[in-house]
Amino acid sequence: MNELLQHIQAMIRTQGPISLATYMGLALGHPKHGYYQSRDPFGAAGDFITAPEISQMFGELIGLWCVQRWHDMGSPRAFMLCELGPGRGTLMVDALRAARIAPDFVNAAQLHLVETSRALRECQQASIRRIITWHDTVADLPALPALIIANEFFDALPIRQFQRTSNGWHERMVTVDPVTEQLCFALSPVPVREDQIPSAAIRAAPEGAIAETCPAGQGIAASLGAHLAAHGGAALIIDYGPAMSAPGDSFQAVRGHGYCDPLQNPGFADLTAHVDFQCLAQAGRDGGCHTDGPLSQGQFLLQLGLGARAGRLSQNAPPDEQEAVTSAFHRLTAPHEMGKLFKVMALRHPDLSLSPGFEV
Ligand SMILES: C[S@@+](CC[C@H](N)C(=O)[O-])C[C@H]1O[C@@H](n2cnc3c(N)ncnc32)[C@H](O)[C@@H]1O
Repeated sequence: MNELLQHIQAMIRTQGPISLATYMGLALGHPKHGYYQSRDPFGAAGDFITAPEISQMFGELIGLWCVQRWHDMGSPRAFMLCELGPGRGTLMVDALRAARIAPDFVNAAQLHLVETSRALRECQQASIRRIITWHDTVADLPALPALIIANEFFDALPIRQFQRTSNGWHERMVTVDPVTEQLCFALSPVPVREDQIPSAAIRAAPEGAIAETCPAGQGIAASLGAHLAAHGGAALIIDYGPAMSAPGDSFQAVRGHGYCDPLQNPGFADLTAHVDFQCLAQAGRDGGCHTDGPLSQGQFLLQLGLGARAGRLSQNAPPDEQEAVTSAFHRLTAPHEMGKLFKVMALRHPDLSLSPGFEV
């Protein structure tokens, strides 16, 4: 029997229906049974694969992006190189290897990782093999100039959902079906205030439409914006979702590289939702920084020189390695793969010029 499911069912029986954000927070982050707490979910043997796990080229280009931004910042002698939700640490390993072309950058970098999973902190230490300071939240980051990377971090943060009915927007709650005793969705009987729905475009959606908000993501983007405005630096956010806010239900569960019912087996599947880049950008600007993009991941990587890097890796390589490089290039950039749905957005201190890779 799934202990986390029992815990959630007991909670609902005593306290009443819980928000989707509470459910998602428990399913992913419960200290003992949460999805990320006990496992390494990446790769062919896991549940999903991310861009840094597809190819070293992804982390390498981001490492060079950081080196360029560090020069733009005046090459500070001490700065924080920070990653949010680093997974296995693969992106950081590839980024630091590529950054060796600038030894002063590597020596000045103090590594700070924001990671709540104990299991993944161990993976990160084993792969990165440098002095690392971990934090549970961005609020704990030190007051230093910063370069901050977040790849597929924001999609893992808890969302709330609302549905439009004939008498306004009602929150979608998670409850226990009295007949089947399974978890199910139910609308809160009391409508929320109209201003809880993020944008005018969504508020105009017809009856039955779903709206999503990510209070945790917006809070983090505002904190990053405030940090960069106060201490200097830049951030790169890469994730999947629309450039402009739009209605729709994007809540999904993935297990073993396939979709499954997100309420069926909490703690055993990855739960995610699309990132609303319009909201995230606004939160970052409210924090005090400037934003670039979002651009599609394909365009961003090509403008950073992915084609040249793929050519270099293929040169003189045996045919199977050449094939692997070509396949990775395709997965990262093709519109029907990760090239279009995935977006890249930068935050920067107002004194910094346009971020590399965002020229249009
Ligand atoms: C989908 S994985 C992405 C991993 C990595 N960035 C990559 O691209 O391979 C999400 C990462 O965010 C971490 N994470 C999820 N929720 C978090 C939270 N609220 N605070 C900090 N880390 C979190 C997970 O433990 C995991 O490392």
